[in-house]
Amino acid sequence: DRVLVLAGGLSPEHEVSVHSGRGVAEALRRLGVEVQVADVDSTLLDRLVQDPPQVVFPVLHGAAGEDGAIREVLELVGVPYVGARPGGCRLAYSKPAAKALLASEGVRVPRGAALPKATFHDLGAPALMERLADRLGLPLFVKPDRGGSAFGAAPVGSVQELSAALVSCFAYSDSALVEEQVQGTELAVGVLDTGDGPVALPPVEIVPDGGVYDYAARYTAGRTEFFCPARLDPATVAEATEVALTAHRVLGLRDLSRTDVIVGADGRVTFLETNVAPGLTETSTFPMGAAAAGLDFGVACRELAHQALL
Ligand code: DAL
Ligand code: MG
Repeated sequence: DRVLVLAGGLSPEHEVSVHSGRGVAEALRRLGVEVQVADVDSTLLDRLVQDPPQVVFPVLHGAAGEDGAIREVLELVGVPYVGARPGGCRLAYSKPAAKALLASEGVRVPRGAALPKATFHDLGAPALMERLADRLGLPLFVKPDRGGSAFGAAPVGSVQELSAALVSCFAYSDSALVEEQVQGTELAVGVLDTGDGPVALPPVEIVPDGGVYDYAARYTAGRTEFFCPARLDPATVAEATEVALTAHRVLGLRDLSRTDVIVGADGRVTFLETNVAPGLTETSTFPMGAAAAGLDFGVACRELAHQALL
């Protein structure tokens, strides 16, 4: 087998992707699979045409990786690859689009408003901030409508904080999502399909030390406590699992995904987002869920690579 792992990429999540890619490459090599790792640059297309790998395993987070762009290139050159096709990626990577689809399936999503950068500048910030806070209620959560690893995302406790949060958000995306801040327990639910249909992995409960699952809390070992199995009642866990499977299905995804939800004090499950290239680093939740399910991560990766060849 010759697998090409694509890692790094052009987004702010470059470093995270390098770690995820290393995780996949090492897990596959331990099983004797021949693996090469490459980054995305101007030589990629040539390389794919001149010396095509059997399978590409894209482990690119954020723009180009998760929005489907690189996968369009793989479709173009006809190299099989692991994971969702471009159309599914585009839907999942747009948080407003994904939320709308899930809501139409009866899944609870946070109330929110999209705010394009241009509108923010045109309307005069103060009046707009007041209106958003009135409509959605404080506290709020601001995040790029497309992004990952909590870049540009922040909780907002007051109208005064809202402008600053939006300015930071617009560094990462041309449109912000301003949402009600759903209080509760965050769960990450992996979905894996190695040939017998999508199966949800055991949900991982996320407890960041400072209460906010920001970049540092995600990737600094020890900053976040993870519980798998989650410390929630079985019915709630089952509902979270159902939401992840629904997301995988309605977004039209393939092979693997991870859906993040919040379980409120009332036990209701709210959909946050779905990742088509979930983090696969040492502190990432997808490999934890796989391990809790008794799956060897490398074997799962090898099965995904084989499947792409069928
Ligand atoms: N965007 C990061 C990698 C994640 O969702 O795991
Ligand atoms: Mg994400």
